[in-house]
Amino acid sequence: MRETVAVTSERTSEQPPRATRGRSEMGQPLVQLENVNKWYGELHVLKNVNLTVNRGEVVVVVGPSGSGKSTLCRTINRLESIQEGHIILADKELPSEGRALARLRAQVGMVFQSFNLFAHKSILDNVTIGPMKVNKVSKKEAEAKALELLKRVGVDSQASKRPAQLSGGQQQRVAIARALAMNPDVILFDEPTSALDPEMVNEVLDVMTELAHEGMTMIVVTHEMGFARRAADRVIFMDAGQIIEEAAPDEFFSNPKSERAQDFLSKILTH
Ligand SMILES: Nc1ncnc2c1ncn2[C@@H]1O[C@H](COP(=O)(O)OP(=O)(O)O)[C@@H](O)[C@H]1O
Ligand SMILES: [Mg+2]
Repeated sequence: MRETVAVTSERTSEQPPRATRGRSEMGQPLVQLENVNKWYGELHVLKNVNLTVNRGEVVVVVGPSGSGKSTLCRTINRLESIQEGHIILADKELPSEGRALARLRAQVGMVFQSFNLFAHKSILDNVTIGPMKVNKVSKKEAEAKALELLKRVGVDSQASKRPAQLSGGQQQRVAIARALAMNPDVILFDEPTSALDPEMVNEVLDVMTELAHEGMTMIVVTHEMGFARRAADRVIFMDAGQIIEEAAPDEFFSNPKSERAQDFLSKILTH
């Protein structure tokens, strides 16, 4: 076992464990980044990032634009390669290519800022295609599961429509259902509400909050500090490619330690 410089936090006494926690694997490291360095040409975009996310944990990543938050998410499922360091998922190092990568990547769900559903497929087909193609689930089984998930996120009545017929908030909820359909170990959310009209933000955050409370492991890049306060176990603050600070949400918002985090928080609404 490699030596890890793990940055984890203990749950504080003010923050009781969530009701659904208690399965034995909860609290075990699920996603581990060790000394991760990434460059885009000359630009050192991730600087010696060490991060451990435990099973069942919800980590919110905040930081100014350009600080590397999206790049961090994209490296975790190998949409981007890294030049140095290790990314370990459920005790297995992420392979750089091939079928092993496809398999491991299927364990990592991703919901992006832009609605990236397949435009020419129905909502139902958008949710069934991954399980059928990657996980070799039968059409019947995939559709039953998809309808259940669409119901869970409140858009089952839209199943036969095309994405463009849905609002942005509904499309993001479909994107969450699509991620869940793969039975991922962890879901990465990269600013999932920042392209939405304001009145649709909460319907998406509500679904995410519910998932968090059900014990889904989540890494969430967001500027929605209300969500962070409500749902996060830990807040990670990034600046210029580095993790500068991490703390429980109350601690981070009321008592940011670094000047950079103080400056960042002074510019955004935190309630
Ligand atoms: N494909 C790319 N090629 C070159 N530079 C990139 C690329 N993607 C992002 N960057 C740069 O990397 C830095 C981090 O970007 P990003 O991870 O998108 O930050 P954030 O999500 O925090 O806004 C920025 O300076 C950005 O311009
Ligand atoms: Mg980004």
